[in-house]
Amino acid sequence: MPGVKIHATARYVPQRAITNDEISNWVDTSDEWILQRTGISRRHMSDGENTSDLCIQVANKLLAKAGLAADDIDLILVTTVTPDYLSPSVSCIVQSAIGATNAFAMDLNAACTGFVYGLSVAHKYLASGMCRRVMLIGAEVLTKYIDWTDRNTCILFGDGAGGVILSADANRQYAEKLHSRGAMPITVSHQQVINPLCEGDREMDYIKVDGREVFEFAVKSVTESISELLKTTEMCVDDLRYIVPHQANRRIVEGISRKMKIDMSKFFINIQNYGNTSSASIPIALSEMMENGLINEGDRILLAGFGGGLTWGSILLEI
Ligand code: ACO
Repeated sequence: MPGVKIHATARYVPQRAITNDEISNWVDTSDEWILQRTGISRRHMSDGENTSDLCIQVANKLLAKAGLAADDIDLILVTTVTPDYLSPSVSCIVQSAIGATNAFAMDLNAACTGFVYGLSVAHKYLASGMCRRVMLIGAEVLTKYIDWTDRNTCILFGDGAGGVILSADANRQYAEKLHSRGAMPITVSHQQVINPLCEGDREMDYIKVDGREVFEFAVKSVTESISELLKTTEMCVDDLRYIVPHQANRRIVEGISRKMKIDMSKFFINIQNYGNTSSASIPIALSEMMENGLINEGDRILLAGFGGGLTWGSILLEI
């Protein structure tokens, strides 16, 4: 399969950072417990900014970094489970805000695997020649859906956005394998909750997670997914510069590392600063890695997503 060239990466997180100590004022938890069980030290929380606001920040940075005009973009694809509205889509709001008059725009929901699914879709539009340049952004304001009285979930998530501008490149390697299996251990659905930030009981949509089931699913599915892709491409771990997993829990990555006998240094991890930002986690990671010179032209990386749906999948990419 022809590959894709990444013209620019960018990220944006809301200014307000919430530490573990701050959360321990709201629920019975501690910095020590959260850090030990998840690897998370802090996460960012929107103070009124919605998902499209985060995306617009990323979109403008991407255009500036790539040296492109908004008119140069043919498709804006936003992956999110936390859109501003059911309609219009976040991508249409972004398209209007940046004035990308030549672009068509759509959202995609594959939960925490969103960016990997989005990259797969972007790749098909580029490889077929239907689009010359795609702007792909993963963005979430998950704190809209947090029950701040539930210590099992409120410690895990953060808000943020990351994105890339892509074009087709036949000389770059690309391989992928995506999976889905309808099941409910992670849901964002209507519940009756007590919200300490509002008065009394309140009906709202909020995130519910069966932590142990998700943990086991994540280790198993990502292990299988990485092995499957390496086998298909006849590559070994040494051929990869980095594996970039969805950042849900440091211990999940440690579990994969143990099971596959891959050294932890092969995995990029930045969950300590962001928490789980769902479909934004991989593009935020890519943006940090590019900025810090951890990946360079010619390097092969493997993106490994997993999340609600259930959905999972891996993409092998040559930078
Ligand atoms: N602070 C202190 N104690 C807590 C907290 C907390 N924040 N949360 C749970 N506990 C308690 C539990 O009540 C339980 O107490 P009990 O033994 O008296 O019942 C004890 O700690 C152990 O609970 P476990 O659920 O077994 O803790 P575990 O080690 O599995 O960690 C966690 C929980 C962090 C949620 C983990 O299971 C996990 O990360 N799961 C997968 C990741 C995930 O769910 N991500 C969410 C999104 S999905 C995605 O991104 C794909």
